[in-house]
Amino acid sequence: MAVFLNHHQRREGAEPLLAVNSLYKRFPSPRGGGELTVLAGVELTVYRGEFLSIIGRSGCGKTTLLRCIAGFEKPSRGSLLIEGREITGPGIDRMMVFQETDQLFLWLTVLGNVEFALQAAGVPRRERRARAVHYLEMVGLERFLEYYPHQLSGGMKQRVAIARALSVAPRMLLMDEPFAALDAMTRNVLQQELLRLWQETKITIIFVTHNIQEAIIQSDRILVLRPLLPANGANTPCGAADNGSQRPLSSIAALIENTLPRPRRPDMPGFGAIWRQLNLLIGHDGEARTEPEDEAEAVAESAAEPAGAIVLDGKAT
Ligand SMILES: Nc1ncnc2c1ncn2[C@@H]1O[C@H](COP(=O)(O)OP(=O)(O)OP(=O)(O)O)[C@@H](O)[C@H]1O
Ligand SMILES: [Mg+2]
Repeated sequence: MAVFLNHHQRREGAEPLLAVNSLYKRFPSPRGGGELTVLAGVELTVYRGEFLSIIGRSGCGKTTLLRCIAGFEKPSRGSLLIEGREITGPGIDRMMVFQETDQLFLWLTVLGNVEFALQAAGVPRRERRARAVHYLEMVGLERFLEYYPHQLSGGMKQRVAIARALSVAPRMLLMDEPFAALDAMTRNVLQQELLRLWQETKITIIFVTHNIQEAIIQSDRILVLRPLLPANGANTPCGAADNGSQRPLSSIAALIENTLPRPRRPDMPGFGAIWRQLNLLIGHDGEARTEPEDEAEAVAESAAEPAGAIVLDGKAT
């Protein structure tokens, strides 16, 4: 059900799209003087058409990794390559959808927001409208084309952001907790919609989430990041390692292949085993936990099921 992967293990028959090689990211310490290491030794290959989720404790560097892939941050060491070309800045081959529901242009309508992205991507004026409408139909917003962002719900705004990102036909969609600000029901609906869009467009998705259940339902593979500096108590974020840290620096706790058949439900056999494994890898303290009701559900269900087959670097455990 859950298979631990060696980072260098190639996926059979899959075509590599993105390569992250020995990535380190350091920021100047806000306290002055030294530097903070946020990401260390990240090695990752992302394959064309896959759905990869990144999970980990608050502050462990998930957004920083996504921003490096998007080209908003430059690596301190190492490199990132897309289709063999080094990433040196943002590009329309990597579109990002953010957690905040205020990422739309407030002075433009739903249609205007998508048309603006198409204009920026160099799509000729005569093609823009039809293409924008097509993608807005895909996310179910065809009746809201003339609405302004302040007239939309949070879920509708995220749909616009997804349509806008998809409309320029990027190679990959980078999503940073896009559903975190939504209520549970809207979140479930959008998860299903995203899976449908992913299957229809065959786009590659890298999806950051705190929610273990969301990661299991959606992803082919799950990358678990570990904080370089542990949290200072149960509810504080974990930090970056400063210069004096003697800890071995590696940001990757595990890379897991999720072989549960789709569509996935929390009550299906094997779901609870992966959930428990991921919960252990992330750590029990802090906000990385799934909502209590999800947790209770998963634990209750997993108690009745046989343990999933866990393979560690090819050896069954
Ligand atoms: N521009 C910056 N300058 C200094 N430190 C930064 C900067 N950006 C991020 N950091 C630090 O990097 C660490 C990781 O931040 P990041 O936003 O990547 O975490 P995260 O895993 O996305 O957390 P969350 O789950 O809360 O969103 C934090 O300690 C943060 O303070
Ligand atoms: Mg973040």
